[in-house]
Amino acid sequence: MIPEDDPRALEAYEKGKKFYYTNRGQLNFSCANCHVQNAGMKIRSDMLSPALGQTTHFPVYRSKWGTVGTLHRRFTGCNKQVRAKPFKAQGEEYRNLEYFLTYMSNGLTLNGPGARK
Ligand code: HEC
Repeated sequence: MIPEDDPRALEAYEKGKKFYYTNRGQLNFSCANCHVQNAGMKIRSDMLSPALGQTTHFPVYRSKWGTVGTLHRRFTGCNKQVRAKPFKAQGEEYRNLEYFLTYMSNGLTLNGPGARK
């Protein structure tokens, strides 16, 4: 829940949401373009996962990384994919984004750590 008595919480949510729907990078994609509008479609060998539920299994072991990584590391990868300059892990932009994205999965069971290729 977004606490009603703390305007900073709603602000973080709104900023995270805006980030999620804003186009960026040379390829001019928003997060939502891939994980909402095109969820379930294939991009190269990957199936685009829906935004809902993405955060429940972090941190994730990725074979590409050879180790366990954070949600912010994943954000960095997705930003780079569209040739956008990634933001700093634990910086304000990614913290707001995390707040929005985890809010969307409220009520789902936490099932991490997950494993991805
Ligand atoms: C060009 C398409 C594209 C865009 C734009 C994109 N992603 Fe991704 N994203 C992928 C692909 C491909 C994967 C790996 C397959 C999957 O799990 O969806 C992925 C994986 C993820 C995962 C891990 C999912 C899991 O189950 O482990 C998260 C979280 C994520 N993206 C968040 C974001 C966020 C936040 C943005 C915006 C900053 C974003 N993505 C933008 C293509 C994209």
